[in-house]
Amino acid sequence: MIKNRLVMAPMLVGYGSSDGEVSPSMVDYYEARARGGVGIIIVEAACVNQEGLETYSQLRINHPRYISGLEKLSRSIKNYGCRAFIQIFHAGRQTSQLITGTQVVGPSPLACPMTREMPRQLSVAEIEKITDEFVSAAQYAAMAGFDGVEIHAAHGYLINQFLSPHSNQRQDEYGGSLENRMRFLLNIVRRIKKSLPQLILSVRLNIDDFVPGGLLPVESLVVCQELEKNGANLIHCSCGTYQSGLTSIEPASYPEGWRMYLAEQVKKTVNIPVVGGGMIRNPHMAEEVIASGQADFIFLGRSLMADPLWPVKARDGQEEDIRPCISCNNCFASNSRGMSVSCTVNPGWGTRENRPIHH
Ligand SMILES: Cc1cc2nc3c(=O)[nH]c(=O)nc-3n(C[C@H](O)[C@H](O)[C@H](O)COP(=O)(O)O)c2cc1C
Ligand code: SF4
Repeated sequence: MIKNRLVMAPMLVGYGSSDGEVSPSMVDYYEARARGGVGIIIVEAACVNQEGLETYSQLRINHPRYISGLEKLSRSIKNYGCRAFIQIFHAGRQTSQLITGTQVVGPSPLACPMTREMPRQLSVAEIEKITDEFVSAAQYAAMAGFDGVEIHAAHGYLINQFLSPHSNQRQDEYGGSLENRMRFLLNIVRRIKKSLPQLILSVRLNIDDFVPGGLLPVESLVVCQELEKNGANLIHCSCGTYQSGLTSIEPASYPEGWRMYLAEQVKKTVNIPVVGGGMIRNPHMAEEVIASGQADFIFLGRSLMADPLWPVKARDGQEEDIRPCISCNNCFASNSRGMSVSCTVNPGWGTRENRPIHH
């Protein structure tokens, strides 16, 4: 049972320790959002190996030593009747050698125009090893008590790099046709499902890369159908890469809910539940999306950074008391500089947020 149709989107907040452990302030941050009434929390991108790191303090999920911290995190979420998921991740070429300590990797030796570091092309044996690492990460998540895992296949990171003809120019069984480009993702999905049939499996997918020559809906919708056939339980729609600019984390110039048309197309294509969102600030907008059948669940990202009580205030008809996110992207700017995230409109974050509330 999930108590409502609101999902907290994964967002890197940089509260992990420098070696990727869960910290007490991270537990506080997620606990405050669970208390605020959201139905599912997807914990931010946790890395499946060292070479896939995007930031220094990013959570790691590549060794049993991380299970105990992750278990504290899942418990602090589930204590409030909220379902706990964690996103599993590899940055591929969208990172820097300064962070990974080794040359960045990707499907092909094509540099991301934003980071401008030439990736080393992964061998087939290395792709199979990373597939194993995603499966191990899902196993650690299950051991740590998470109800679900989400494979990060969006936003220009490694799995998206394989899916996208723009960044994948391989000539072997992992490149060329769509069937070959989605082999990496589908192998991960099948292997996780086989090993952990009880774990809920979500895939965050770009429906449109918004990059010339990138992944388009005509192909991503086929990927969605294959994901369903191969055991995914949820499709979490997103879009954009580093190169496309701010289409993944939009500034205030984008209208509320502008990208729901992407989720709507997925909803018409598959039978499993679909999560849509992006720039959802107002509970009435969320209600309209659900009522019109554009998506089964709404994801809220920055709205929950700005006000963890958004869900209970919406439920109790106190919309006017919601402290709205103003889409200034200061949170994202601090994350991009490798700093812990803070919010312009929520100065109490991580401290006063956890004072008792009554609902
Ligand atoms: C600081 C920050 C960190 C983010 N980290 C992640 C992440 O770890 N994984 C992911 O899939 N998306 C990440 N995102 C994107 C959000 O999940 C979400 O899709 C985006 O913010 C747009 O939705 P919103 O308008 O509801 O915030 C991040 C966004 C922000 C602002
Ligand atoms: S820092 Fe700005 S964009 Fe980020 S959550 Fe706060 S108000 Fe929204």
